[in-house]
Amino acid sequence: MLLGGGGREHALASALRRSARVGDLVCAPGNAGIAHLARCVPLDPSDLDSAVQLAAREQPALTVIGPEAPLALGLVDALGRRGLRAFGPTQAAAQLEWSKAFSKRFMQRHQIPTANYAVCTSAAEARDALALFSGTVVIKANGLHAGKGVLICRTREEAEAAIAGLFSGALLGRAETHVLLEEFLEGEELSFLLVSDGKHVAPLLAAQDHKRIGEGDTGLNTGGMGAYTADTLLAPGMRDWILHHIAQPTVDGMAAEGTPFVGVLFLGLMMTARGPVVLEYNTRFGDPETQAILPRLESDLYEALEACVEGRLSDTEFRWKAGASACVVAASGGYPGAFRTGLPIQGLPEAASVPGVDIFHAGTAQVGDAVCTAGGRVLGASACGGTLAGALALAYSALGKVQFAGMYFRRDIGARALVRNAHGG
Ligand code: AMP
Ligand code: GLY
Repeated sequence: MLLGGGGREHALASALRRSARVGDLVCAPGNAGIAHLARCVPLDPSDLDSAVQLAAREQPALTVIGPEAPLALGLVDALGRRGLRAFGPTQAAAQLEWSKAFSKRFMQRHQIPTANYAVCTSAAEARDALALFSGTVVIKANGLHAGKGVLICRTREEAEAAIAGLFSGALLGRAETHVLLEEFLEGEELSFLLVSDGKHVAPLLAAQDHKRIGEGDTGLNTGGMGAYTADTLLAPGMRDWILHHIAQPTVDGMAAEGTPFVGVLFLGLMMTARGPVVLEYNTRFGDPETQAILPRLESDLYEALEACVEGRLSDTEFRWKAGASACVVAASGGYPGAFRTGLPIQGLPEAASVPGVDIFHAGTAQVGDAVCTAGGRVLGASACGGTLAGALALAYSALGKVQFAGMYFRRDIGARALVRNAHGG
């Protein structure tokens, strides 16, 4: 059973379907694309009682949880109490994502590199702490806000307005009790995902996400407008350093504190002049990263996830197609602001028939004979290739066959990496 209904879950469903171990696959709620791979059941994954009832009825061998909200609410714990196995962290372990104050203090306790910070519980305390930072400062709400709780403040006035707005509730609609001030870091961002069985770690491919709505990384933050992977993205020495100095100490630290981490650990890294620094932890598969990563997976995803749950990840290794991959997201016009839904999408069969391409549905719904838009991020065109340029060309050619009113996508996914490659770096 798979919980969630976005592009990440479509990519997960597609990889799970390739496993000889997966017979019946149930997805809740799923979407119009996932419906071709799984039996979809309507459900709000954040409604724990309904999710537990569904699992109790279906008795899946394993439940894989896509989004962060049910993890933060304790779905893995609730399923466990009913004797049902789930891939994902417990509520206590998921705290690495749902409480930034917890994750910063955790990194400090375990000497894991992260930006300097202060956790403040009142606007007055935050204004005092502001005096300790110079230049640009990053101000963050403590909890889960789907990327909207982070404000990069270039001036003292901006920072004071952010502090006031977060504590009063004017900015996010809910008054924050904890606000973080953070040193502003410069560098390339990298999404480094790994799975853990609570003891061992096994890395997936490193990816880069494009979070801003506009080309050239401008405009508002979104859930992610595209992602790519490439064998050239992360040198083996750097990868090993991250595993030994960040990933393994995180898993060891969680085990030592009595909250072992089982699931996907997603390191949001800034590759700075002083080395990789953790910007944030996520405790689940990334979206759209997963849409770029899993098409390159050659080994069995189900077996790897089961090995995590059974605490025997040390026997498991992921095997990948060599080369690169890219995912370009098509969004509704207006996203991440207001947008229309219910618009019919044309060209899906033609796009999906381009060899080497997967069209992953995100916000789609079947309405009679038509597949219609049903969200901000509508779909992702993913492709693998020997080179990043090849993968991008395929993904864009497939996306060119899709149409809906107001469809928007960035034309520069992976563009900076292509320039870097051309310069041999
Ligand atoms: P977070 O949710 O903490 O990952 O923050 C969302 C985004 O804000 C990150 O992906 C970065 O682009 C940016 N960001 C967060 N913290 C910092 C920081 N300390 N320095 C620079 N940029 C940051
Ligand atoms: N793409 C970033 C995330 O999944 O949080």
